[in-house]
Amino acid sequence: MSVKLIAIANQKGGVGKTTTALTLATALARMNKRVLVLDLDPHACASLHMRLYPENQSRTLYDLFQAPEDQREGLWKDIIKETRSQRLDIAPASIRLSELEIDLRDRKNKGGILANALTLVQENYEYVLMDCPPHVGILLVNALVACDLLIIPIQTDFLALYGLKLLFDTMRTLNKVLPKPVRYMALPTMYDRRTRACTRVLDLLQEKMGSAMFNTIIGIDTRLREASAQGCVIYDLDPQSRSALAYTALAGEIVEL
Ligand SMILES: Nc1ncnc2c1ncn2[C@@H]1O[C@H](COP(=O)(O)OP(=O)(O)O)[C@@H](O)[C@H]1O
Ligand SMILES: [Mg+2]
Repeated sequence: MSVKLIAIANQKGGVGKTTTALTLATALARMNKRVLVLDLDPHACASLHMRLYPENQSRTLYDLFQAPEDQREGLWKDIIKETRSQRLDIAPASIRLSELEIDLRDRKNKGGILANALTLVQENYEYVLMDCPPHVGILLVNALVACDLLIIPIQTDFLALYGLKLLFDTMRTLNKVLPKPVRYMALPTMYDRRTRACTRVLDLLQEKMGSAMFNTIIGIDTRLREASAQGCVIYDLDPQSRSALAYTALAGEIVEL
């Protein structure tokens, strides 16, 4: 398998990163894959969505970044939580993740902490999905260093192309310091085929991204929001819905990569 460690990032907020991380993870688990989701966002949306409340967690990914190397193995055991969905585990976030920028200021190889720590657990999973925060910083860099694939969810609205330019500027800067250039694939999200603006943006995206784009398009679906409010995923609400089928198709594409 060539792709195993997948970062889901875009510095624009509200584009479907967290929804994609959790729904794709569930879709892969439903295909009998063992999956771990890492919540790397201090806002802890993925953890909350899975009903892991930061105030109830004795250990979170924050502790992993802080710990000396020889304590990481024991920490993973405390951090990783099972979910109701079989084969899907999650490592929750803490609001304190936002302190790492300062805490790790003087740490050597601070961009490689996650990649290094993952070597201790990645053999237990077929996929590790990293839900990234919407800003450039130590957490995003750690995810990009660790990943073999970056999925960039792109909301198909008229501002998306401007956001994309920002993202590529960031990637160019990061690629200069990363050990290897990041392989990426764009994922159109919140697509509304009834609006002309959406179809135009999709055409432009296809033109710009060429083969670095999934065939799957995630349509707009308010039930995704409903699922998140209920602490479940779309497969629990309506496994035959268009968005559930789209995320299953996306999982199919990932498995074939
Ligand atoms: N395809 C979609 N259609 C409609 N709403 C969506 C879709 N994907 C995500 N949402 C909703 O949009 C909001 C932002 O999505 P989220 O995944 O949290 O984005 P991000 O992690 O990029 O900030 C959430 O309320 C989510 O439920
Ligand atoms: Mg998010």
